[in-house]
Amino acid sequence: MGSNGRSTNGKSQPLYATRIDLSSEIRTKVIAILNHSLASTLDLKTQVKQAHWNVKGLQFYQLHELFDEMASELEEYVDMVAERVTALGGLAVGTARTAASQSILSEYPFDILDGKDHVIALAERYAAYGKLVRESIDATDELGDADTADLYTEISRDIDKRLWFLEAHLQTSVEEGVAAAVSEVAESKAKKTAKRTK
Ligand SMILES: [Fe+2]
Repeated sequence: MGSNGRSTNGKSQPLYATRIDLSSEIRTKVIAILNHSLASTLDLKTQVKQAHWNVKGLQFYQLHELFDEMASELEEYVDMVAERVTALGGLAVGTARTAASQSILSEYPFDILDGKDHVIALAERYAAYGKLVRESIDATDELGDADTADLYTEISRDIDKRLWFLEAHLQTSVEEGVAAAVSEVAESKAKKTAKRTK
């Protein structure tokens, strides 16, 4: 620990002293998970804004509004995740450059216009981000930080709900929805059978 109340955690990032009852080893690991997801959260927020500005077509207005609501939610998650980093004594790394270099998401397509294409592009990104958040719940839970796991659980529930909103725009016929559900049930049955026969 330096005289300024900070130590380095072996990498270049400082770990500040705190009276919190989580060890510095646990805090360092949780902070790394948080900063990793912060980059993708920031990236997703800017991508949703990109869709909000550029969507066109007959559903323009409702999608323009929906995307703005979704971007505002993501802005809240950015703050929640970054402030959990600082609560644990870490340095929140949330600049645009870090987000661009560390996000798990691919760049948003610039050549789409129609509402449906934007909904598909966002659904793909919400699914990928949702997977990352769910993995972060498990990882922080295993490290013994129930509060960070709970923070991720809150985000995860909302991301799943938004993915539902997006996919509801794409499920245009009962047959389509039922076919997808049936194939999913068949897939999970096959997985269970494969497990049993191992
Ligand atoms: Fe706007």
